[in-house]
Amino acid sequence: MQQFDVVIIGAGAAGLFCAGVAGQRGLSVLVIDHAAKVAEKIRISGGGRCNFTNRDVSAANYLSENTHFARSALAGYTPQDFLELVGRHGIAWHEKHRGQLFCDRSADDIIQMLLAECGVGGVTRWQPCQVKAVRQTHTDGGPSFEIDTDRGPVTSHQLVVATGGLCIPKIGASDFGHRLAAQFGLTVTPLKPALVPLTFDAGSWGPWVGLAGISMEVDVATPVEQGKTGKRRQASDAHFLEDLLFTHRGLSGPAILQISSYWEPGQPLTINLAPHTDLAQQLKDAKQGSRKQLSTAWSQALPDGVPQRLAQTWLEQAHLQQPSIRADASLAEMKDRDLDWLGSSANSWQITPNGTEGYAKAEVTRGGVSTQALSSQTMGSKTVQGLYFIGEVVDVTGWLGGYNFQWAWASAMACARALGKMTP
Ligand code: FDA
Repeated sequence: MQQFDVVIIGAGAAGLFCAGVAGQRGLSVLVIDHAAKVAEKIRISGGGRCNFTNRDVSAANYLSENTHFARSALAGYTPQDFLELVGRHGIAWHEKHRGQLFCDRSADDIIQMLLAECGVGGVTRWQPCQVKAVRQTHTDGGPSFEIDTDRGPVTSHQLVVATGGLCIPKIGASDFGHRLAAQFGLTVTPLKPALVPLTFDAGSWGPWVGLAGISMEVDVATPVEQGKTGKRRQASDAHFLEDLLFTHRGLSGPAILQISSYWEPGQPLTINLAPHTDLAQQLKDAKQGSRKQLSTAWSQALPDGVPQRLAQTWLEQAHLQQPSIRADASLAEMKDRDLDWLGSSANSWQITPNGTEGYAKAEVTRGGVSTQALSSQTMGSKTVQGLYFIGEVVDVTGWLGGYNFQWAWASAMACARALGKMTP
């Protein structure tokens, strides 16, 4: 049976990066992936340009049962470290808003860089290759893993699971890592799609369908429970100031993708459509001696760039709930309490999604192998010697903006540094 110092299952961002580093440290490394093409998620990421990291990364940009878990790995391998690697490979990049770093040319540059690093490390790749079973055996040399594959069996004292999350099954996502964790007695926290568009009941969404395609800056919030597992949890709001996009089935855009990671079924979203303006006050200020119709004053109170279509639909819906609010009413004759109602309806729009667009449209999976089961220094299991989990399969979920790739690099590096030479 072939033997390696380490077998890595999953040739995505975390698996390939870990393999290259471990190989260059002198370890014999085998990477196995069931997909025919490597790192397809990198290829489709960032609209084909891969938002490979963010200038400003801290554990606060991640969701996890233990919000401190990611700290050590993130400190041990920083965005600057990854930028140095990107620079050594001559990859041109640029910064977009909020510190997001993208390839100038194509996400393929990052894939080729990872493969080149694997090449330098003498990494063996089996692909496509199905893993049929994994067993742990105990020999004189200590515990070891036997891995049955459709290219034959292979053995190793160290097994790294880098099979990612459940998003986009058609390009290779599977629950292999979660199942393997369970097989070895490790807890997996509840899984759900994150960084995903939100949907609404067809009935309640009806009035807004005509707004599909409209995008605008909003502040969106949802209640969350925070706190470390085992400690008292506190309720507070997560919120993001970003762009929102109306779709035919609901809401999307960066603001919604970000908040979706925190959203729990049944909870409302509170959306401020004019985050820098007190709309009620604006209308009341405009009222004195005005000859305007409410519809004109309303359009002028809303932020620049908000299309007429939205302003008009909003007034129509407001009228259905408060008949005294009429688009053709004279602003001067409007009661302050109606202007207060109208203003706050858009400054704090309460709306409850009925679900998400699911794993087919999500960018990441929230939840995964419990951080309680892993060392934050090495990503190794606390109970199964030689078993490691890295990347998205772990219960560490980043915000939109390059944070998930930075977690893939950082967790892979923490693991690669901890792996040892086991074969002669
Ligand atoms: P990843 O999913 O990359 O790799 C897992 C590998 O394991 C795959 O190659 C898969 O084939 C393999 N595998 C799965 N099951 C297996 C099995 N049973 N046997 C063998 N192999 C198996 N993040 C970010 O920071 N910036 C961005 O721009 C984007 N953009 C983006 C766009 C889209 C459309 C998506 C879906 C996701 C993103 N992301 C992102 C998220 C990012 O792609 C993701 O977090 C990382 O790829 C996770 O890296 P991993 O290596 O953990 O998993």
